[in-house]
Amino acid sequence: MLPKPLDLTKQLITPFITQGSHVVDATVGNGHDTLFLLESLESVGGGTLTGVDLQAEAISATRERLEAISSTSTINLIQQCHSEIDYTELSPPTVIMFNLGYLPKFDKTVITQPHTSLLAIQKACQHLAVGGVISIMGYLGHEGGSEECTLIETHLKTLSRKNYRVLTYQYLNAPNTPPYLILVEKVS
Ligand SMILES: C[S@@+](CC[C@H](N)C(=O)[O-])C[C@H]1O[C@@H](n2cnc3c(N)ncnc32)[C@H](O)[C@@H]1O
Repeated sequence: MLPKPLDLTKQLITPFITQGSHVVDATVGNGHDTLFLLESLESVGGGTLTGVDLQAEAISATRERLEAISSTSTINLIQQCHSEIDYTELSPPTVIMFNLGYLPKFDKTVITQPHTSLLAIQKACQHLAVGGVISIMGYLGHEGGSEECTLIETHLKTLSRKNYRVLTYQYLNAPNTPPYLILVEKVS
């Protein structure tokens, strides 16, 4: 069976994580994706992990989840907007993950916004290592989700094919508009 979009994301980004890589989770939420990134880093000998979220509760939930495994990696968890990540302090990331929308069971009013998401993704494209990848899980079902994804896609379609390869993976016939995947690979 074909993998679900989030499972495919993990399969596709794993090879981009090598020993010493810097990886970024731009929306840590409950920390599930962050834990996946840390485990992937650990399996290749460790590296640096940056995790960001607007909500203090998300940062502490993620910290707790990561502390459950023993790790040799450098971990920076920061409560801030992903459009404000300072990429200049660390080596260019080889993986940057975005999982847009809101966190179920948390404050649903804290939701990614079209313009800050676009800004964050533009900045991610700029600072991504050559040979690195950005994954974006987009949600069309909630209010503002479709506008957000359209804004992001419209921008990504303008990127030079010489420097970036941009693709999507999406169910076209599923009910309840499940999330879909956008990938950006920086090739030069
Ligand atoms: C769908 S959830 C992420 C799920 C998460 N990756 C996980 O594995 O549990 C989206 C997250 O984005 C966060 N968020 C919303 N706006 C943000 C922003 N401008 N900057 C950073 N995080 C933001 C929310 O607080 C929420 O935790």
